[in-house]
Amino acid sequence: MLKLSGNRVYLSTLEREHCQKLWNDFEYDFEAMTEPLNIGHSVVKADKWFDEIQNDQGSKHIRLGVFLTDGILIGDIALQDIDWTNRSCTVGLGISKIENRSKGYGAEAVKIILEYGFNNIGLERIAADTLEQNKGAQRSLEKAGFVLEGIERKAVYFAGRKWDRLNYAILREEFNSSSKEV
Ligand SMILES: CC(C)(COP(=O)(O)OP(=O)(O)OC[C@H]1O[C@@H](n2cnc3c(N)ncnc32)[C@H](O)[C@@H]1OP(=O)(O)O)[C@@H](O)C(=O)NCCC(=O)NCCS
Repeated sequence: MLKLSGNRVYLSTLEREHCQKLWNDFEYDFEAMTEPLNIGHSVVKADKWFDEIQNDQGSKHIRLGVFLTDGILIGDIALQDIDWTNRSCTVGLGISKIENRSKGYGAEAVKIILEYGFNNIGLERIAADTLEQNKGAQRSLEKAGFVLEGIERKAVYFAGRKWDRLNYAILREEFNSSSKEV
């Protein structure tokens, strides 16, 4: 069990029923597309997802639920693809329901997981990719101090056209110096 507390949200261990809730709640926003386009799987897939999370938790990734302080689960966040040799990983975040997006919860969840990644488990670099038209993800990352490092032009094809993939990253010293400024 792991619990990381913030002001309006906390991050905590996901149980099987949490994964089912996230799976059922997730609303795809075609104005802010993500990859992969994971539509049409039944909730059975949520059980497989839970098993995958358990198998690799603490080694390849650390995935936690994003909960409001009253205990309602609204999303999940992960340090994933952890490379313990190079002390790097990527971050992935999803707020399930559209009504819970753009309320500052994602930005706070990112801040909490960065603090944990850099200052508790010793990571040095955390990266994140997003598609060009996902302005919410870009703004959340930039607000957390991520730097745009590159653009993979026309890297992703779906919904009838090609999209650029944006590559962001933040280093431990950048996170810690920006945290001190706040
Ligand atoms: C992307 C996502 C994680 C961001 O989390 P969030 O809780 O909605 O974001 P926040 O409310 O913390 O917003 C952070 C900043 O982004 C801005 N923002 C959020 N959604 C936005 C949107 N659709 N368009 C433009 N800006 C947006 C906010 O205004 C805020 O900036 P501000 O403080 O200057 O006003 C969330 O919207 C989500 O889960 N979307 C669906 C899945 C997804 O896209 N995951 C990311 C894949 S890379």
